[in-house]
Amino acid sequence: MASRALSCKFCPIVFFLVLVWGVQARKVFNVEMFGAVGNGKTDNTKAFSDAFRSACQYNGRSRILVPMGTFLVWSNVYKGPCKGPIDFKVKGNIKAHAGPVGLDHWFTFRYIDRLSITGGGTFDGQGHTAWPHNDCMKNPNCKSLPVSIRFDFVTNSLIRRITSLDSKNFHINIFECDNIRIERLRIIAPAESPNTDGIHVALSENIKIQNSTIATGDDCISLGPGSKKVEVLRVKCGPGHGISIGSLGKSHPYDVSGITVRNSRFDGTDNGLRIKTWAPSLKSKVHDIIFEDVIMNNVRNPILIEQQYCPSGNCDKSKASSVQIQDVWFKHIRGTSQSQAAVNLQCSSLYPCKNINLADINLSYKGLKGAANATCLNVQGSAWGVQRPNLEACV
Ligand SMILES: *[C@@H]1O[C@H](CO)[C@@H](O)[C@H](O)[C@H]1NC(C)=O
Ligand SMILES: *[C@@H]1O[C@H](CO)[C@@H](O)[C@H](O)[C@H]1NC(C)=O
Ligand SMILES: *[C@@H]1O[C@H](CO)[C@@H](O)[C@H](O)[C@H]1NC(C)=O
Repeated sequence: MASRALSCKFCPIVFFLVLVWGVQARKVFNVEMFGAVGNGKTDNTKAFSDAFRSACQYNGRSRILVPMGTFLVWSNVYKGPCKGPIDFKVKGNIKAHAGPVGLDHWFTFRYIDRLSITGGGTFDGQGHTAWPHNDCMKNPNCKSLPVSIRFDFVTNSLIRRITSLDSKNFHINIFECDNIRIERLRIIAPAESPNTDGIHVALSENIKIQNSTIATGDDCISLGPGSKKVEVLRVKCGPGHGISIGSLGKSHPYDVSGITVRNSRFDGTDNGLRIKTWAPSLKSKVHDIIFEDVIMNNVRNPILIEQQYCPSGNCDKSKASSVQIQDVWFKHIRGTSQSQAAVNLQCSSLYPCKNINLADINLSYKGLKGAANATCLNVQGSAWGVQRPNLEACV
């Protein structure tokens, strides 16, 4: 009893100390202290780089603050490892230089643990100054335009409440990362902007993307080779090309598994939920995929598996893909399809899709004449619950 009373006597002191520590814990490195000027004209690359270096070397929790204003910044790599967690707090507007720049990145964060990017501000990629230089549809050796934000080898990190506007290439690229949360993001670019994927993930695991709005010119979210344990929750997508697993099998034989897309919505997108692989392709597997509680509003191809993906015609259509797709659930997918092909599953003749499950599918065709239909090739699986269109011919 006595010792308990004693310890409680110190409770307020302990509480006070924790509070003081909490308040003082983050050392703030305001980019303006490093010479940044938020007038939209001065180049602030060195100031950002210096602020980052100081924060990274600080032995404790640090914050890089980008205050209100428009800060012009050139491409740069923000490289760890750092001595403590870093919060990159963006209140203002960070603006890219005009033109194609000649590099594949704008902001690259590399080898950092416990990074957070927050603050409600904007990364404005000035994409319209670079999109006319994108000739990748015609030129296989095209120079890649800069991705707005790259995470390479980043762990236990967060992007929350940030706007990515008009990226020149992808908005956000996640590569070789583990445990990244992406929340309340706004991703915006025009429907006709080329290659402006919202969030691309490859060789990464434990990625959670939630409560975000993605309106862009290419895939809202694309999950490339080696994406594992990715959860997409409450994402609103459109315009854009939808959520895609792939393209797979072209040059990296890494499996994709444990992907969930739930409580999400597509408005006027080209595709809804799609898995695509090249043909011919390297051998790999796609498995344990759940698409659940998804609303389609006027989507051209709501449910789509394409195992002969061949966008620029430079592959051999007579060959089959060697990517095995199995254990996939499409559950409670409802709404409207812009084309009659509401469900279209084109699997490989070499590795037919296994255990594809379709449950409570209610998709109607928006056109005046005809009804939605389902087309399947090389698919083994089952269907139950509501089946609109009729899935009898499929599984
Ligand atoms: C996401 O939205 C849901 C529903 O509005 C809310 O309950 C949840 O707290 C939100 N989570 C985050 C991390 O914003
Ligand atoms: C399918 O969706 C339509 C349109 O939203 C709705 O009227 C109908 O009741 C649904 N059918 C079933 C079986 O849920
Ligand atoms: C689905 O509808 C389209 C357009 O009318 C048609 O070309 C296609 O043959 C139909 N597919 C099936 C399986 O009925």
